[in-house]
Parts: sequence; C-alpha cells; structure tokens
Amino acid sequence: MAKINKAENQIRFDFNNMMSDYIGAEEGIRESDIAAVSSKVKESFKSVVDQGGAGWQGWMDLPFNQDEIVKDIIETAKDVRKNFKTFVVLGIGGSALGPIAVFQALCHLHYNELPQKVRKGPKFYVEDNIDPERMSALLDVIDVNTTMFNVITKSGATSETMSQYLVIIDVLKKALGDRFASHVIATTDREKGNLIKLAKKEGFKTFYIPSGVGGRFSELCPVGLLPAAVLGIDVKALLSGARDMVKKGKKSNNPYKNMPLMAATLQYIAMNRGKNISVMMPYADSLKYIADWYCQLWGESLGKAVDKEGKSVFAGQTPVKALGVTDQHSQIQLYTEGPFDKVITFIAVEKFRKEVMIPEGLSDFPDVNFLCGNTMGTLLNTERRATEYALQKKKRLNRTITLPEVNEYTLGQLLMLFMLETAFVGAMLNIDTFNQPGVEEGKNATYAMFGRKGYEAKKAELDSAKPKTDRYVIE
Ligand code: PA5
Repeated sequence: MAKINKAENQIRFDFNNMMSDYIGAEEGIRESDIAAVSSKVKESFKSVVDQGGAGWQGWMDLPFNQDEIVKDIIETAKDVRKNFKTFVVLGIGGSALGPIAVFQALCHLHYNELPQKVRKGPKFYVEDNIDPERMSALLDVIDVNTTMFNVITKSGATSETMSQYLVIIDVLKKALGDRFASHVIATTDREKGNLIKLAKKEGFKTFYIPSGVGGRFSELCPVGLLPAAVLGIDVKALLSGARDMVKKGKKSNNPYKNMPLMAATLQYIAMNRGKNISVMMPYADSLKYIADWYCQLWGESLGKAVDKEGKSVFAGQTPVKALGVTDQHSQIQLYTEGPFDKVITFIAVEKFRKEVMIPEGLSDFPDVNFLCGNTMGTLLNTERRATEYALQKKKRLNRTITLPEVNEYTLGQLLMLFMLETAFVGAMLNIDTFNQPGVEEGKNATYAMFGRKGYEAKKAELDSAKPKTDRYVIE
C-alpha cells in the first residue's frame, strides 16, 4: 500500500451553515450561544479527557495500545488470505456494523464479484441478521471447506450471534469432522460469556475485545481490525488516523480549536432547541454504511430515559441515514421544506479514487449537452454544494465534513471524530453514554419467551401483559 501523505489527508469540519451569520438569526447558532454553554462544554471536555481510556472509554486508547495485537492480527490475516476463499463475519450491532462500513469504504464496490486474482483476498460476507432465508442463501453460495468464520460477540451471549454460531458449527462438523475448529476465529471478551468458554473448549483461535470497549465503540479493536486486515486494508494507517483525531480531541477545551468538541457543542445546542433528528448524508457510495454505523453509535449512546442522577430526561436525537445524491430525489424535499427539526451532516469527498468522464455528445440537446466533458465526481460534488446552498437558503442547519480522499487514514479520523463527538454530547447531557438498557430489555424478553432458565420472572411479567384484541386487527 502506498504511503499516505498525512498533511494532504486531514479531514475538515465546516460548520458555517450552522451559524446565524449564514442561515439567519431565527434558526442559526450565534457565537454568543456557544459562549453561553461554555461551562457545560468545559465540563464535558474534562470528564471525557480526564477519563481517557479508563472505564467504558477504552476505545480512546485503542489507537495507542495495540502494537502486539496488530502484529497477531496481520499474521492471522495473512494466513486466512492464503488458505481460505471466503471470510464470513457472524455478529450483530456493534459487532457487525463497523466491519461492514470499513469494507464498503475501503474495498472495491463490487469486491465479491471481482475475479480472485484481482481481489487478492477472500470473498467477504457479514451476517448481521437471523433471517432464515439469508442464512440459507449464504450456505448456497459459499463452500464451508474453504471458508473461515469469524464469530464476534462482546457479551458472548447474544441470541442472534449464538444461533448463527450453532448453525455454522453444525454445518462445519458435518463437512470437516474434527478439523472444524480450524475454520473458526472467535472475537469476544477475555473472561465473560459463553463464546470464550466454547473457544477454550474447542481450541478456536481467539482475539479479545478489551474490557472498556463497548460494542458500538469497538471497530478499532480486533472486532474491526481482523476483518479489515483479511481484506488487505492497512490497519496501521486506520489506527494512525484515529490516533491523530484523539490528539485533536484532547488538545483544547476551546471548541473553536477542537473539531469533535465543536461538533458536539453545536449538536447539543441544536438538540436543546428541538432539533430531534440527525441526518447523516455521505456523498459517496463508499461511505454509505458509515451512516448505518453512525446511526447505532448516536442512537444507542444518546437515547436514554434517565440522566446520571436518575432523573427522567428522555434524551436523544434520532439518527437518519441518507445517501447523496440518491436521496436528493427522495428525502431532500422534506429536509428543505418540512419541519425545522433536523441537523443535516454531509460527508464530502474531494477526490474520488476513480473518475468517470461524461463523454461529449448530444450537441443537438443543450439541456443534456451541458453535462458533457465533466467528470461524474464533479457533477456529484456540484450537486452536493447546490443542495447545501438550497438548505442554507431555507434556513436549515447543516454542516459538512470533508475527506480529501477515502483512505485508511481519513477513515480512521472520521470514525474517531464521531466516537468523540458522541462521548462529548453524552457528557453534556449528563447521561450514561455507554449503556443500553433499552436493548437489554428486548434481549431479556426474547430469553423469557424462549423459556431460558433464570428468566422465569420476566416470562411471568410477559404472560400477565394485556392480550391484544382482534378489534384492532384488520385483514
Ligand atoms: O453497542 C452495543 O453494545 C450493542 O449494540 C452490541 O454491539 C450488540 O447488542 C451486540 O452485542 P454483542 O457484541 O455482545 O453480541
């Protein structure tokens, strides 16, 4: 991989269109509004930065403390690339969305369809659902004899992942007998959960998810680094981008000198003004699934019923994913003229890794001919700027993060920017950013419905819930 020039690959955060000078006093944020929350901003900075990599903020240290692990990951990936034709991730939520996002961002957009000698690495699938049609479709297209499965679960207990695990182990045992264990890599907690016990019993190669790293903050540990390395992605450059963003995020408690802190401050002010929706809209297909990853990070971290003192706050901002330019022909009408309840974040890419020229032609059709002789990248970025202008004109809060190019270094910065922004906003809201009691409730109800031991009280609670009436069901 060619060395990435860091100076030319710094991502930029442009918040002009969040400000009153640009979108007007009614909707826009004034510098005095930022000054008014400065003690909240300083407290948030202090709590996140002082905490550093401790507690549930282990993810902040990942770019600094994984030299040995990265060595092992690269060695293991080399082996997988040499000996396997397919690599399948089994996992859900934070154990799947990061690998999907990084794959889409840094590999060929039709990677699996490329011939092996162009692809160089194995075909790649991430199974993040338990739809039976999907599982059987996967088994229709892969040959388990040449497939490595990476089972990823922090808790080692998630029903979806463990059911996938059971299905795959059964298929592997039938196909390979005693050799099945050499087709499984486990990524899980060092001590807790069932997967680590199974990994020890069966002798799976195992990578650990550090204790202070929760699912949605885990892309930069073996959860994401192993699949990335198997795909031939330069994981050291990814970590280097993240490292430089952590340094920026720790630099100053003055938001004008701190990109993640300013991003968080603006969102905090917007949320307090009823901007309940955060639209993430990359203008690049390669970044499409970054929006999915962001939705989990933002939604699960900030959507909380109570603050740290137990007071009801019902905090959060609903994340919505969109794709430029595709959603200009679907959602932008709403964003431009609907309720004033959103902050729209564009992700722009300055230079695409491939360009396509729109050829000359149709000179008799000036309404089409004006496109000729331009690149598709120029058209896409022009449309992004035009959309930004249209939103600004209609007084809609929007901001733009620009990546000079999509590569490991810029992607590492982007992922860390969003993680830090989330942590800063969580601290400003005085909530627990790192738990997910709402997700646990659904998990526990599933266990109870399946009659799992230890969930009898939950089962009784569910059984005593008011039964549904047919009066409200129509055929
Ligand atoms: O962010 C989180 O902690 C969750 O969304 C988890 O990623 C998700 O529930 C999967 O959990 P696990 O990795 O324990 O299987």
